[in-house]
Amino acid sequence: MTCNTLEGKTVVLGITGGIAAYKAADMVSRLKKLGACVHVIMTRNAVRFITPLTLQTLSQNRVVVDMFEQPHYWEIDHISLAQKADLMVIAPASANIIGKIANGIADDMLSTTVMATKAHVIIAPAMNTNMYHNPFFQQNLNKLKESGFTVVEPGEGRLACGDCGKGRLQDINVIIDTILNFFKTRQDYKGTNALVTAGPTREPIDPVRFITNHSSGKMGYAIAEAFAQRGARVKLITGPTHLDPPQGAEVIRIQRAREMLDRVMEHFPWADVVVKAAAVSDYRPREEMVHKLKKHHQRLEIPLVKNPDILMELGRIKGDKKLIGFAAETDNVKEYARRKLLEKNIDMIVANNVTAKDAGFYSDTNKVSIIFANGKELDLPNMPKRKLAHIILDEIKTL
Ligand code: PMT
Repeated sequence: MTCNTLEGKTVVLGITGGIAAYKAADMVSRLKKLGACVHVIMTRNAVRFITPLTLQTLSQNRVVVDMFEQPHYWEIDHISLAQKADLMVIAPASANIIGKIANGIADDMLSTTVMATKAHVIIAPAMNTNMYHNPFFQQNLNKLKESGFTVVEPGEGRLACGDCGKGRLQDINVIIDTILNFFKTRQDYKGTNALVTAGPTREPIDPVRFITNHSSGKMGYAIAEAFAQRGARVKLITGPTHLDPPQGAEVIRIQRAREMLDRVMEHFPWADVVVKAAAVSDYRPREEMVHKLKKHHQRLEIPLVKNPDILMELGRIKGDKKLIGFAAETDNVKEYARRKLLEKNIDMIVANNVTAKDAGFYSDTNKVSIIFANGKELDLPNMPKRKLAHIILDEIKTL
């Protein structure tokens, strides 16, 4: 089932060179009728098949082709379109653009915009059937699927080049339905207040040194971003990270565990759901030196005291709020996670082995098991943190 309006949504449509490019005119017109604001980016080859003027007239927006055109109103096009997009769609998507995206190549307006956007991307490939089945192309397409892109598979039949088989641009109705479905499924948290924590904490020893951990914030930021994409109001309480703030989230920055506790407690009454992805320091130096420690000691011992366990505190007062924790473990992962779930009185815990390859701290991907208070367990394969974030949100819905 789909919703039937795109009112208030900005769709950036990328068109690449191929005979199916002419069908993009129908797509722009349909998106406009559904209420979307449509911006079109064409590759130089797309312009050989359909004129920018046609798409400009239908979209009622300037069509962008050349990266080095004079910027309008001093906005840099690929950045401003990347930021404006609620969704990017590339249809038809040639083997060339798919190869570029999969391999991190950004050398024209479309590929740079895809690289710069945080919006979800839907790809509708169209090409000769032998090109479609080529193993290098398939590898590239699989890379995009694994990174969380939605692929609208091409249809089968007689192709413009005379060959028969899979490769022609999927029916425009199917592509439009995929777009409508994206916005419908992504609005299932409308009206929900989501409080997310992310990143490490820093526990000062003196004015120049501190105790911390390897958390980059990527997992927590991906969760905050997914909540915002799906319509929730989001507050993100974060330790120091180098990440850009997720679109649509209010960001509250802290350093120490005790500051995180204070901010979490302050915003807890507002929240319907709390996800604690932050890696909070369990200990802090008993004293914080006012001046830099001098190195005249041969041996130095710094006494540590325990920090408050924020999640445990929340578990005591949780009421009917949904409370989700993470468990960062190096051994007996699920057993320790189950123990934390019970001790902290939470609804669901996401257990990750932080020593596993391409998982845990810093990586863009993660491999987790989700354990529920009712005993259900879900073992997930390794996947991008952004994709995992949406699965975690799907599972929160089942609580
Ligand atoms: O940030 P990234 O680089 O993307 O890495 C992601 C991650 C590995 C940090 C993330 O996936 C993760 O596992 N986060 C939880 C890290 C952690 O502190 O785990 P823990 O097992 O020590 O704590 C269990 C739970 O209690 C966590 O939800 C934690 O936020 C919470 N906790 C822990 C200690 C404390 N003093 N207060 C807490 O609230």
